[in-house]
Amino acid sequence: MSAPVAIHIENLSKTFGRFRKRIHAVKNLNLDIHAGQVYGFLGPNGAGKTTTICMLLDLVLPTQGDVYIYGKHVRREHDVLRRVGAIVEHAAFYNFLPARKNLEVLARTGNHYDPDRITALLAQVGLTDRARQRVKGYSTGMKQRLGLAAALLHDPDLLILDEPTNGLDPAGMHEIREFIRDLVDNHGKTVFLSSHLLGEVEQICDRVAIISLGQIVREGAVADLLAGKAQLRVEASPLDKAAAVLREHWTLSTGNSQWMMVNAPREDVPHVVRKLVEHDINVYEVSSQRQTLEQYFLSVVREEVSGD
Ligand SMILES: Nc1ncnc2c1ncn2[C@@H]1O[C@H](COP(=O)(O)OP(=O)(O)OP(=O)(O)O)[C@@H](O)[C@H]1O
Ligand SMILES: [Mg+2]
Repeated sequence: MSAPVAIHIENLSKTFGRFRKRIHAVKNLNLDIHAGQVYGFLGPNGAGKTTTICMLLDLVLPTQGDVYIYGKHVRREHDVLRRVGAIVEHAAFYNFLPARKNLEVLARTGNHYDPDRITALLAQVGLTDRARQRVKGYSTGMKQRLGLAAALLHDPDLLILDEPTNGLDPAGMHEIREFIRDLVDNHGKTVFLSSHLLGEVEQICDRVAIISLGQIVREGAVADLLAGKAQLRVEASPLDKAAAVLREHWTLSTGNSQWMMVNAPREDVPHVVRKLVEHDINVYEVSSQRQTLEQYFLSVVREEVSGD
């Protein structure tokens, strides 16, 4: 049995501006996010991630289309947003107040003040030692952590996070990643997050949608998207000649002056070596590697932009 649908997006579009200045930020988006997973929303700058997230939260009015959260229409049944915690772009705080005080104010205004919960949340996001410091002196990463604590104050079922690991150092990212995974794996939450940090997404997300120029170009389980996307790393000399030979049979992706990546499965290794040797090219290494989400993402976005 599949999990219930947490977010249902139907024919969602957003256009900004008029006439020649018109921008189609989001174009006819259709997507179902099932509960109980970490779902990644990936796309290059300006792809429409933040605009989509703002429409999910009823912060931006769609030009067309509908958003349902737990089966409720977010505009017509606004109360459903009580089940949602969110960070969009940057969480805003009172800079002159200490972090803990900020959470207390938020909890009081939201009518769910519980000092023990605030203490626990500060510990969970790793801010216990800095909780009495004013937010003014906080680093970007610390503000992100505090934003996450604020989003969780009312114990929401669904978290919608725009670039949650923005500004965090590698250790901080690791902590937040573990924290988000724990929310989903052990506390029954659902997380929808946008990101550019593909290495992060690959490690944290169960499923992803890749969006480019306002449209979904790929969607699926991370493992399925990357299945059968093997590549060969080829180190040969002269490399430009090797590239010319291999390009006749395979497509090439990234590379540098010493090596290149060839889109081919491991079974093709003998053919690749034979072709190179036949052309008098020195082969130093041909090894098969799994494609990373980053390589996959770049190839997909490149295809879309070139209109293939
Ligand atoms: N309020 C606005 N008025 C006019 N255009 C806008 C507005 N908000 C967004 N846009 C445009 O819509 C497009 C999508 O922007 P959006 O912020 O959703 O992208 P994004 O995927 O979040 O990008 P980033 O990775 O840079 O955060 C961009 O071309 C942007 O310039
Ligand atoms: Mg954005």
